[in-house]
Amino acid sequence: MKSACGHTEPRTCESEARDRRQLAARVGPRRHRKMMAAKILDGTAVANQIRREVAPSVEAFTARAGRPPRLGIVLVGNNPASEIYVSGKLKSAGEAGLRADLERLPATATLDELLAVVERLNASDAHDGILVQSPLPEAMGDDAERRVFDVIRPDKDVDGFHPVNVGRLVQNRGTLVACTPSGIIELLERSHVTIAGSRAVVIGRSDIVGKPMALLLLHRHATVTVCHSRTPNLAQVAAEGDILVAAIGRPAFVTPDFVKPGAAVVDVGTTQVTDRATVEKLFPPESKRREVFERRGSLVVGDVHPDVAGVAGALSPVPGGVGPLTIAMLLKNTVTAAILRAGGAG
Ligand code: GUN
Repeated sequence: MKSACGHTEPRTCESEARDRRQLAARVGPRRHRKMMAAKILDGTAVANQIRREVAPSVEAFTARAGRPPRLGIVLVGNNPASEIYVSGKLKSAGEAGLRADLERLPATATLDELLAVVERLNASDAHDGILVQSPLPEAMGDDAERRVFDVIRPDKDVDGFHPVNVGRLVQNRGTLVACTPSGIIELLERSHVTIAGSRAVVIGRSDIVGKPMALLLLHRHATVTVCHSRTPNLAQVAAEGDILVAAIGRPAFVTPDFVKPGAAVVDVGTTQVTDRATVEKLFPPESKRREVFERRGSLVVGDVHPDVAGVAGALSPVPGGVGPLTIAMLLKNTVTAAILRAGGAG
């Protein structure tokens, strides 16, 4: 199964065990050392700031149109991570004064059934934005996501995944741009991380994060390298980055040897880890993260190893880093779509 962030290889016990062995080999005996702390790139604070900035536009649109901006979210199946993400999106939209409704389809739904829901939302004058939560069930087929994203009307495509919106992004004239990468740009800029003239390295080449991330950094005048599973000397290449974005969906994969001292590191990973040995290796006994694991029996772990805090100049935490920004940018895109559909000026 693909992870909910859509940029992950299938996770199996075998691959988790292999990761653990590789992790142990790379990290060695440095268990739970006390480290100099990197500055925290506080995604929650920046997301709250963006939500406050969006509020007047929501109010003005609602007053003018006689209804709030409206988002249709489609969730197929019961992927636990997607359930959490979608309920966060619904809750945040409601708090921001938007209307968001959820269309659920069972995991057994066919692609045609899903496409019919999208077509209905496309035709609905009352909906300004449409989001189909990724990943879709594997049974829908390898190209299901592409086929769905291709059908969503570009002016309602608040994910920025439609080829028209991707093309606009390539030409640096995007209006609806993928939420996670655009949120990361907001995080870096508002945390005063210099992008122009920097070396930026993106690990991961997904359509949802890696590729749009690379383009956004490039448009802000960074020199960008995109790494992936077949990049030779990955750690060495990553360590050239003044900015390092980790979006590979492999828990704690990015160890200190991947990081240039003082670099700004953004962790996009959100893998649910249930394996006790992995958690014990990563987090010290009395830590908050261990406490969460003891309470829930699972823990969301980023792509960046905790020891990176001792090398990086700035680091986004998991949770509380990129996640809240993705939602804030979704709200922003929905308001933008509503305003543009209503004929322009906010
Ligand atoms: N799954 C994980 N992140 C996203 C996202 O930004 N949009 C959609 N549609 N699905 C996702």
